[in-house]
Amino acid sequence: MVGVLLFAYITVNLFLKCQGQTIHQAKIYSENSEVPEGGRLEVTCSTFGFTVKAVYSYLCKNGKAILMKKGTPRQDTTFKIERIEMNASGNYSCVFSEEQLEITKVTGYGQNYIFINVIESFIYTQITLLKPEVPVGSDAEFNCSTSKPLHKNLSKNMIWAYLIKNGTPVEVNIWDTEKMMTTLTLRDVRIEDAGTYSCVVFLNILPYHGMRLHQNITVNLEITGKNGRGQTKKKLQFRVII
Ligand SMILES: *[C@@H]1O[C@H](CO)[C@@H](O)[C@H](O)[C@H]1NC(C)=O
Ligand SMILES: *[C@@H]1O[C@H](CO)[C@@H](O)[C@H](O)[C@H]1NC(C)=O
Ligand SMILES: *[C@@H]1O[C@H](CO)[C@@H](O)[C@H](O)[C@H]1NC(C)=O
Ligand SMILES: *[C@@H]1O[C@H](CO)[C@@H](O)[C@H](O)[C@H]1NC(C)=O
Ligand SMILES: *[C@@H]1O[C@H](CO)[C@@H](O)[C@H](O)[C@H]1NC(C)=O
Repeated sequence: MVGVLLFAYITVNLFLKCQGQTIHQAKIYSENSEVPEGGRLEVTCSTFGFTVKAVYSYLCKNGKAILMKKGTPRQDTTFKIERIEMNASGNYSCVFSEEQLEITKVTGYGQNYIFINVIESFIYTQITLLKPEVPVGSDAEFNCSTSKPLHKNLSKNMIWAYLIKNGTPVEVNIWDTEKMMTTLTLRDVRIEDAGTYSCVVFLNILPYHGMRLHQNITVNLEITGKNGRGQTKKKLQFRVII
């Protein structure tokens, strides 16, 4: 009997929480509503005017809580999300509760909302090899280009183009916004430099360790022996994978 009553009590309690009776609206602030892909989203939840207690604040995206923090009395709570992905775009707002609730059960919109737009940070460009043959010890030159000009409003600073091998930047050069291209040179190539290369332009962000760079438009560099001696024919393969 006691077990049944306890069960009923817990059920009713959960039901109330699901009904949103313990969830209250808070305010959200953010300095930017545009965040570059790979950058940091920083928003502040404020319960000022709603409570003077230390409460649990929840950051909601599209009406569902995604993060929770226990606040201190009369203090705003800041949420930071690093290395944001394109799918983080959405309608952000803040709610709070006096008791800690299970995050997946917290839904709703706060007093106000901010639509956060994740903007593109990388542009994968066309890539070609300028020289058809690259023997050991010489330079391999890559030509990276776009057919459309980049949105200049995206970056007021210098734009950098990176040569990517195995998802990692190996060379960098300044992007020529007039000619919509740049040349990247690998000097004094060794046998190990053979492989698949891509070119990516960074608009709003600098590369960081652990960044994921796709390689969907590629060229394949082959390195031949010093004087053409040996088994490998001097050959440079060109390939575009789309
Ligand atoms: C966003 O996409 C990444 C992979 O591209 C995935 O790991 C992550 O769970 C997604 N996040 C959301 C909120 O959908
Ligand atoms: C964000 O959510 C609010 C509350 O549901 C809604 O009124 C508003 O239209 C949404 N805005 C966008 C841009 O989706
Ligand atoms: C680089 O490639 C682009 C597009 O393929 C081409 O128009 C341009 O002339 C090339 N630049 C050089 C210096 O070869
Ligand atoms: C850049 O300009 C385009 C076209 O006018 C616009 O759609 C885009 O939102 C702008 N981006 C930024 C970061 O201002
Ligand atoms: C390469 O990948 C990026 C990111 O996934 C995508 O935006 C772009 O359209 C792709 N390009 C091609 C030519 O497939």
